[in-house]
Amino acid sequence: MIGTEIFSPGAQELIYGREMMSSLKENAPHSTILCGNLDGQPIPGFEAYKIFTINGKKILVTALIDPDLEKKAIHGLQCKEPEPALAEILKIPHDLAIAILHFSDAKGRQLVRSVAGLDVAILATQRGTMAESEHINGCWLVKNNNHGKTVGYLDWSFATNAPATNKLINVRKEDYAADPKILKLVDEYESWLRQHYIDVEKNKEGTGTELPIQIAYVGDQACGTCHPRIVASWQTTRHARAYASLQKKCKDFCPDCLPCHVTGSEEHGKDGFRSPVITPNLFNIQCEECHGPAKDHLKNPDLPYGLKIESQSCTICHTTNTDPEFSFDDDINLITH
Ligand code: HEC
Ligand code: HEC
Ligand code: HEC
Ligand code: HEC
Repeated sequence: MIGTEIFSPGAQELIYGREMMSSLKENAPHSTILCGNLDGQPIPGFEAYKIFTINGKKILVTALIDPDLEKKAIHGLQCKEPEPALAEILKIPHDLAIAILHFSDAKGRQLVRSVAGLDVAILATQRGTMAESEHINGCWLVKNNNHGKTVGYLDWSFATNAPATNKLINVRKEDYAADPKILKLVDEYESWLRQHYIDVEKNKEGTGTELPIQIAYVGDQACGTCHPRIVASWQTTRHARAYASLQKKCKDFCPDCLPCHVTGSEEHGKDGFRSPVITPNLFNIQCEECHGPAKDHLKNPDLPYGLKIESQSCTICHTTNTDPEFSFDDDINLITH
């Protein structure tokens, strides 16, 4: 629908497996689907690289996936070693070579150091942006993983063999009207997501099987008997109503929003909240988000308990995107009890 010329699946997409990957081309007939180091049986519509000829210049574009990321995905697709795959692709005659790297920033830099010949590398895995590009081994590294809040823009100068312009453009809701076709797509997806979770719950009831998960988070219901004053104070904060904010926006099943509006999200490397169906007792930013799982504390309240609370405890959610004005020293006073 947006008409991008290139789409390059990362490890997150590979999770959906061969069948779904095979249907990508049907849905995006005008896009080239790139993966330069896919191994085994080819997938229809996937290409290792693409050459665009613009003003007589040959622009070679490829994309690579870190096989270590791919191993974490459950699918049936494999990736081969990226270095030899990239070196092979770079032998194809070109004037400019661009690679989309589905690697951590550190490993992306390592790849660029070990294989010479790339002109531009796009770091496509770790969250965040780079205002300035880095120049490593003759290659310009750029990064714009900002949930669509900015668009990366790069003008290349063949005269200097360097970017002439390289900037991030803010895409603000105020400046662009929403596209009704895309809105409809998002609505359909959200209805599907909600139904999906409800189906998961129905299946669970049907079979009577308990999920074999161990969660050390107990939920705020368990604190009131001994810390009634603190619970009452917390209930006046917006942290206690963070899930309602998602419900108001009909995003209460949306995996993009949940991590910061619930307690102990897996996305944040914690093992509390799993899904609205499995852990409905962990909605909102509860006590245990800041103090840590309290299962053992309940068993023995006299033993030491409680994480050290520092800026990092807050900025996993109060990021420069979601809360640009956040200041640990000031805001902490608004939530202490
Ligand atoms: C059975 C009573 C009891 C329950 C239930 C209980 N606590 Fe406590 N908690 C205590 C006692 C006793 C202490 C130690 C004395 C104190 O600091 O109040 C304590 C200490 C703490 C501390 C550390 C204070 C410090 O600075 O050392 C935190 C944080 C805390 N509790 C959070 C919680 C949370 C969160 C829950 C609910 C998940 C909870 N507690 C449930 C009794 C309880
Ligand atoms: C798991 C994510 C998360 C963590 C961790 C977190 N917050 Fe929040 N915080 C939120 C969300 C989400 C809201 C907005 C809730 C709403 O209104 O829906 C919020 C709201 C707030 C507000 C109210 C803002 C206002 O303008 O009224 C303050 C203050 C705040 N947080 C401070 C902190 C501090 C200080 C920490 C660290 C000790 C922290 N938060 C940790 C997610 C988090
Ligand atoms: C990276 C963490 C993070 C993610 C992801 C996130 N939020 Fe929030 N959200 C916050 C924080 C922090 C605040 C509080 C900011 C403030 O007002 O100071 C907040 C506040 C809110 C608020 C109340 C304030 C307002 O602007 O009206 C709503 C509604 C909200 N978020 C909805 C969403 C939705 C919908 C999504 C998914 C599309 C989402 N959030 C994803 C962290 C996050
Ligand atoms: C947004 C983070 C945050 C949330 C949510 C939160 N706390 Fe705290 N809590 C703090 C901070 C910060 C302190 C100050 C001491 C420290 O730095 O550990 C504190 C201190 C405490 C203390 C020890 C000091 C005292 O006043 O006795 C207890 C007990 C406690 N919290 C319990 C709770 C309980 C119970 C809840 C949920 C109802 C809760 N906290 C929710 C951040 C939080």
